[in-house]
Amino acid sequence: MEQTLSIIKPDAVAKNVVGKILDRFESAGLRIAATKKIQLSKADAQAFYAVHNQRPFFNDLVEFMISGPVVVSVLEGENAMAKNRELMGATNPQEAEPGTIRADFADSIDANAVHGSDSLENAKIEIDFFFAQRELC
Ligand code: CMP
Repeated sequence: MEQTLSIIKPDAVAKNVVGKILDRFESAGLRIAATKKIQLSKADAQAFYAVHNQRPFFNDLVEFMISGPVVVSVLEGENAMAKNRELMGATNPQEAEPGTIRADFADSIDANAVHGSDSLENAKIEIDFFFAQRELC
C-alpha cells in the first residue's frame, strides 16, 4: 500500500477548511494513516524545503510556511502519491483544474493551500521528517 505526505498550509488552516480538505482525500478513497496540527519553526521549514534553497522564492516560501500552523498527514492507498497530486491540482491555482483543492481553496502560488510529495522517494523522506513509525497506523 502506497503512502504519501500531505501538508495543509497556513492559508487553508486560517480559512478553517481543514475538514473540507481532509474529506477530499477520504472521499477519493485515501486513508489518513496519521495526522497532526503543528507550528513549524524557521529551521523546520528551511530543512523541509531544502531542495528549493537556491530558488528565488525560497525565503518567501519559508516565511509563509511559518506564518501559522499547518496540518501534516500521511495518506495511504493505491497510487496515493499520484492520486493526491491529482486532487491538489497544479501548483499555481490559476492553472489548477476546476474542482481540485487548489482551484477551490488557494489564492496564489505561495498561498496554495496544500503540499503533496512529488515522488515515492520524496514521500518516504517527507513522512520520516514529520512522523515516527509508531504514529502511522
Ligand atoms: P509546494 O508543493 O509546497 O512546493 C514548493 C512550493 O514553493 C510550492 O508548493 C509553491 O507554494 C511555492 N512556490 C512559489 N513560487 C514557485 C514557483 N515559481 N515554482 C514552484 N513553486 C513555487
